[in-house]
Amino acid sequence: MTIGEFAKETGEWLDPELESVFAKDKQDDITVKASMYSLKAGGKRLRPLMMRLTARMIGCSDTKLADVLYYAATLEMIHTYSLIHDDLPAMDNDDLRRGKPTCHKVYGEGIATLAGDLLLNTACERLFKKAIENPGYLYASYFMCRNAGLDGMVGGQSIDLDSEGKTIGLELLYELQRKKTGALIESAVVTPYYLIKGLSEEQAEKDETAVLLKKLAEHIGLAFQIRDDILDVESDPSILGKNTGKDLRDSKATFVTLLGKDGAGKKLSLEIESAKLVLSDLKQKGYDTDEYTVLIDYLETRDS
Ligand code: IPE
Ligand code: IPE
Ligand code: MG
Ligand code: MG
Ligand code: MG
Repeated sequence: MTIGEFAKETGEWLDPELESVFAKDKQDDITVKASMYSLKAGGKRLRPLMMRLTARMIGCSDTKLADVLYYAATLEMIHTYSLIHDDLPAMDNDDLRRGKPTCHKVYGEGIATLAGDLLLNTACERLFKKAIENPGYLYASYFMCRNAGLDGMVGGQSIDLDSEGKTIGLELLYELQRKKTGALIESAVVTPYYLIKGLSEEQAEKDETAVLLKKLAEHIGLAFQIRDDILDVESDPSILGKNTGKDLRDSKATFVTLLGKDGAGKKLSLEIESAKLVLSDLKQKGYDTDEYTVLIDYLETRDS
């Protein structure tokens, strides 16, 4: 399959679930409307796509795949909340996202803030709900929550904002990127495995496949954000669906501002190579890694 075919299939799989995340009788609430505006605005749906790829690589029943879908929609809610808040004037102050005006441009800053809060809170409710229904999912739910917080996305965004206008070292840049983008991608790549196997934290730490998936996620996460940094300097808003040149404008610490575009390109190739090495380890363990290879090749050259 091509990446375009994966994306189409992922959209068809995910969209009905996204439609159902808020009860029908709540649809008139303005914050629900704002949340749905951003959730349905499009986006590449790469995290749900990764969740599907992991589920397929591991192999699972239809029942488990339905639960992976539930978690995929939940992760897309957390990701969308992070974008709504990231675009607010108090953060990156952007007016274009997923090819449309940002949430606060349409609904105002107050409602956009609430929309982010609502998406995160509803995501947490969903994670608790599934864990109550199936205690085998407790660790998967905890993992997804934790990766959105201080040890994950919020922690990375905190370093990102705190580093504006400063010169930071490569080590801190790695930490920033690993947390702000890498953590949600780790949730995407790894959580399906925890769900399918019903792993506890202790079991996950010892499980060889889980360890390999975490390594894979780390390289995918870095590759993804390095490409995002490169696209900010070389792409076009009409293709990217968001404004460009923002990182330089805001004196952000990125791989491009630290290493230059060529340096960042080299780093990207190294991460792609490393991801492929992890895939060969997974293949050695008997997994069919062909579909993941298609995704990794796409990450190196994606133009949106
Ligand atoms: C954008 O993520 C924010 C970053 C983590 C760099 P995506 O590029 O996956 O955004 P959408 O979901 O396709 O809009
Ligand atoms: C934001 O990174 C990542 C998030 C956690 C939302 P960026 O600020 O680089 O994302 P874009 O470029 O606005 O999509
Ligand atoms: Mg940002
Ligand atoms: Mg931004
Ligand atoms: Mg960016």
